[in-house]
Amino acid sequence: MTWQATVMTLFPEAFPGVLGISLAGRALENKTWSCSTYDLRQCGLGRHRAVDDTPFGGGAGMVIRADVADAAFSAVDAPADVPRVFLTPRGTPLRQKDVVRYAGAPGVVLMCGRFEGVDERVLEAHNVEQVSVGDYVLSGGEAAAQVFLDACVRLLPGVMGSDQSGVEESFSDGLLEYPHYTRPAEWQGRKVPDVLLSGNHAAIAAWRQKKAEETTRERRPDLWSAWLARREKNETAAG
Ligand code: ADE
Repeated sequence: MTWQATVMTLFPEAFPGVLGISLAGRALENKTWSCSTYDLRQCGLGRHRAVDDTPFGGGAGMVIRADVADAAFSAVDAPADVPRVFLTPRGTPLRQKDVVRYAGAPGVVLMCGRFEGVDERVLEAHNVEQVSVGDYVLSGGEAAAQVFLDACVRLLPGVMGSDQSGVEESFSDGLLEYPHYTRPAEWQGRKVPDVLLSGNHAAIAAWRQKKAEETTRERRPDLWSAWLARREKNETAAG
């Protein structure tokens, strides 16, 4: 079954973009997923096919009109069990657990905004989830949509190189990943940690766990607190 991505955008030429190369590109070729676009301009009004208008209440920028966005969602006409997502810095932050859920759906319809956003009423009417790919502002939703789709597509059956690389990666257990090393064992006077050359698998696993914990504590205090709380709960449950 092909996982179907439909991207609603004013810039259909931006797709598949970076998703046309490497793992995602190969998966696109072998029909593990498909990437179709819907040009919002098709629903534009008047001679200039206008899609946006000035915001009620005043302020800078333009807003994609409710009637235009509604016509586009209706034209795309995805099955009811396909999530509709609007990419916006106002959205709920995208987490790996959400990516797992989207990858498990039959596909996704993504709406890319430009300008200030989309009329809120149409998002409510079409049950559109609002998702952010990070706490920074992009100039439009297209780059965010590619981030979103890349994260989903690599989880589709058969896409990732080795199944292990999905199990051990950052976030799957709530910690950032340990650091990686390869040859040469000594480079510009810097040595690879001895334990990794020891062949002692238990010691290597313990070292990696320690590094994952240290890195998470230093870089992501938010993830670290959540991980500590979860560990405490599990220890209490285990007695
Ligand atoms: N559009 C602009 N910035 C965005 C962000 N951070 N996430 C999702 N969509 C966006």
